[in-house]
Parts: sequence; structure tokens; C-alpha cells
Amino acid sequence: MSGRGDNYDPKQVAVLSEEAVEEMVADALAAFEAAGSVAELKAARAAHTGEKSPLALANREIGALPPQARKETGRRIGQARGRVNQALAARQEVVSAAELDQRLVAEAVDVTLPMDLHPAGAIHPITGLIDLMSDVFVAMGWEIAEGPEVEAEWLNFDALNIHADHPARGTTDTLFVDPIENHQLLRTHTSPVQIRSLLDRPLPVYVVCPGKVYRADEFDATHVPVFHQIEGLCVDKGITMANLKGTLDHLATSMFGDIRTRLRPNYFPFTEPSAEMDLECFVCHGESVGNPERPCRTCRSEGWIEWGGCGVVNPRVLAAAGVDPDVYSGFAFGMGIERTLMFRNNAADMRDMVEGDIRFSRSLKGEAR
Ligand code: FA5
Ligand code: MG
Repeated sequence: MSGRGDNYDPKQVAVLSEEAVEEMVADALAAFEAAGSVAELKAARAAHTGEKSPLALANREIGALPPQARKETGRRIGQARGRVNQALAARQEVVSAAELDQRLVAEAVDVTLPMDLHPAGAIHPITGLIDLMSDVFVAMGWEIAEGPEVEAEWLNFDALNIHADHPARGTTDTLFVDPIENHQLLRTHTSPVQIRSLLDRPLPVYVVCPGKVYRADEFDATHVPVFHQIEGLCVDKGITMANLKGTLDHLATSMFGDIRTRLRPNYFPFTEPSAEMDLECFVCHGESVGNPERPCRTCRSEGWIEWGGCGVVNPRVLAAAGVDPDVYSGFAFGMGIERTLMFRNNAADMRDMVEGDIRFSRSLKGEAR
């Protein structure tokens, strides 16, 4: 094209003519006007003000002009670039304001619209309570043991010193699994885990076993046919009934705080001596006893509700599990978990716990944790 020191020839620098420069400006302004978004404007800016834009290239030609032409051409191109930059800045403002307006409309939240409610799930209160009761023992260094719900008849009864003629072994109380000759049943209590734990573990043994049990039982305010127990077994040297009482008192205080309990002598073939631990009725607090005008459905006007059975492990049970009863002794207990929930949460009717009405579980959400 042109070179330093060449003679001035207006044709040679047609690119720098007034018309050419005006055209460059017009092109730039048209491109800015046509750009409808920040991104499009960015592209137009690169094309019309960037290093390779016609005006930048024209600017580079100035140095090659004869000195007498440089001043005017320089001014012309300088003014042209100024106009282009001004138009760009003005357009930039318009485009970004419009884009912001669009975003505000698109992202607007109508706080008056009805909400799409997804209620959060929660574990069942019985499951939460199982964790809570187990934690009381884990904190004392006890282990959690497990056993199957379909259990061998021998472990559910014989090994626990429950003889063949015991009424609980009949088909009216116990649910046997077909065929009956296989001697398999749905465990009626968590006590077979006592035997399983003694057979499985080295002594001393400190275990709790929470789990589901099955009985052909009534369905009323304080009984359901499928319920949960938490079994406890401790076998060590020098264990007595005093250790049992201390442990159950600790469990009662952890579960209910300040509550009246009593140990009532009872009979279980697998413990000797045996007792049941009762809790004072949380509905009538004993006021229904001998008061026919104010009967209590929850405790059947007895003033107390049985929480669970317990006792000192019968030496016959230790022997059945291969433990020397002259060296070791122990205690065991089996508390009802539904009964615990009744007391902790003033749930007067146990049927609510199994009928699956979400309102019941929701009312106890977080309570049993
Ligand atoms: C037993 O099941 C013994 N295995 C407990 C035991 C263990 C004694 C270790 C000694 C040593 P019982 O049948 O009483 O005992 O049941 C224990 C607890 O389970 C009851 O006190 C009660 O809290 C709960 N329970 C019993 N039957 C039902 C039922 N149908 N519905 C809800 N809870 C029940
Ligand atoms: Mg009982």
C-alpha cells in the first residue's frame, strides 16, 4: 500500500478519505444498534473498535501519509473513533439495562403463590425409641445383640427352662411356622437372644437386644399382637439382684425422668427370683384404684402398668448355654418398647402406634429421639 517517504497521492489513501471514514462510523453505529444483547454488543465492539477494526487499521495508515496530510486525517479518524466509542457506551447502557429488566422478570418469585409442599419424612417413633433405649446401654459399654424373628422352638422355650407343658407353648398363644414338625416359630419374646449371646460370645456378657416379637395376643389399649421388646442380659462373676435393680432404675430415669416404679414378685422359668417392673399409671396416677366412678381404661383401674419382666438368670439356663453357674451369675430383663412409648409420650392407646395414621407419628416426630 503506502510507504514512508512516498509522494502524497490521494488515491493511495482512499481508505482514509472522509467518505470512507464516515462509512466506517456508520457501519459501527448500525452494528451497535443492531446488537440486542450484551453478548452481541461485545462482538460488535470487537469488530468495530478492536485492533483489527477498519478504524484501527485506518489509524495505522496515518504514519505512512506525507506530513502535510497527517494532521487532518489524524483529527478525522480521532473524531470518528470518539463518536464510535460514545455510541458504544450509550448502547451498552441501554442493552445491559434491558437485559437486567428481562432477568428480573424471568426470575421473579411470586411469594403469594400456593407452596408445593413436600413434607419431610421421619423415622417411626418406635424405631427412634429403640435407638434411644439402646444408647443408654451402649453408653455403659454394653453391646447390641441380634437374633432372628423366626426362631427355633428350642431356643425360644426349652433352653429357657420353659417345659413342654407350659401353657405359653400352645398353639393358642404361639404362632408356629408350617410345617409344625420343623419346630420353628415366630419368637414370642426376645429372650432366646440370651441363649444365642451366651453361645456366641466370650464371658463376661453384657448385651441388649431390641426387636420384634409375635403373640396370638389381644388387640386393645395396652396390647398388640406384634410388638417390640428390649432384652438385657448380663452374665459376670458376682452379679446379684441389686445390680438388676440399679440398672433398671437407671433405664427408667433415662426414659421417664421422675417416675414411680415398683418391682412386683413374679414367676419366669428362666429367672429365679423373678419380678415385673411396673410404672405408675400416667393417666390416672393411681386415682382410679377402688374408685368405680373414675375408671381408668389405660391401667384397667389398677394404678400401675407393667413395663417388663426381669430376674436373676436361672442356673439351669446358664448350664443349657454351657456356662458354669458355680462361677458365673447374671440378671436379665425384657421391657416392652410400645409401653415405654406410651409412658414417655402420654400415648394412651397402643393401637395408634400400629394403625399407620401419619398424624400420630407426626405428633411424636423428634420426640423419641
Ligand atoms: C417376657 O416376655 C419375658 N421374656 C421378659 C423377661 C426377660 C423376664 C428376661 C425375665 C428375664 P412378658 O410376657 O411379661 O415377659 O413381656 C414383657 C413385656 O412386654 C411386658 O411387660 C410388656 O411391656 C410387653 N408386652 C407383652 N405383651 C405385649 C403386647 N401384647 N403388646 C405390647 N406389649 C406387650
Ligand atoms: Mg408380663
